[in-house]
Amino acid sequence: MSEALDIVTPILAGNPSPFPVPAGCYALTVRDVQHYTDSLFRFRVTRPKQFRFRSGEFVMIGLPNAEKPVFRAYSVASPSWDEELEFFSIKVPDGPLTEHLQKIRPGDTVLMRKKSTGTLVNDALLPGKRVWMFSTGTGIAPFASLIRDPETYDKFDQVVLTHGCRTIAELKYGEDLVAGLREDPLVGDLVRDKLIHYTTVTREDFARQGRITDLITSGKLFADLGLPRMGPEEDRAMICGSMAMLKDTKDLCLSHGLEEGANNKPAQFVVERAFVD
Ligand code: A2P
Repeated sequence: MSEALDIVTPILAGNPSPFPVPAGCYALTVRDVQHYTDSLFRFRVTRPKQFRFRSGEFVMIGLPNAEKPVFRAYSVASPSWDEELEFFSIKVPDGPLTEHLQKIRPGDTVLMRKKSTGTLVNDALLPGKRVWMFSTGTGIAPFASLIRDPETYDKFDQVVLTHGCRTIAELKYGEDLVAGLREDPLVGDLVRDKLIHYTTVTREDFARQGRITDLITSGKLFADLGLPRMGPEEDRAMICGSMAMLKDTKDLCLSHGLEEGANNKPAQFVVERAFVD
């Protein structure tokens, strides 16, 4: 494992950056980049040994391409025990950060502010029988971290990760992740026993179609899984997606009797925005 670098390494291999690393930032080296669609990719970077975070939290990410770089919030998609850090990103045409970030290659440098934060953490939920992780698009990222963390399975008997996307291709990151986890030496047994991955698509033909909010309202989600409707006794929920998705899913949690929690006041569900440009 390499440490954070004290000096800026080239942003594009062989092309030294003239800009200093801003105070309070790590300069991390890109290890791996995988593109899924025209609008989605993931990247992995070195992790500084001194950087600690809780699975499900987010950090601010930027590039060393300006005196005052643009930073955006990214959920760490890797678990807190991992030696590298993983992120799952959208590519926004002309987006101030992602327009450039989508071009990174192994060996390039990414900036990360040193402090992580966020509400999608196990500590913000009261114990319960099962946890619902409701995600759309890149909102799966914090859950990619949490479903790799044994603590999640210690806390809940059942973990239901729902992922809704416009197209089938956009599901691939989550599908590859869950398939790989079933064989994982650390959490493989837990994943096989406790994790349910429920995917839906809204703009193509697929086995399960429709917005997760509609599937909750109609009860189809629960019927498909052979589970009772959500309720405050047994169920906990975490929500991550676009602003509209957050609002609609939050309203459904409330109407099912769940109360919103926070780090300093754990309760039955928590919400976090997944939006970057
Ligand atoms: P839809 O295709 O009906 O808009 P986006 O890329 O816009 O964030 O959308 C990702 C997924 O989230 C899409 O399947 C989209 O469905 C769905 N979605 C968008 N808005 C909501 C909402 N308010 N509640 C639930 N799902 C939503």
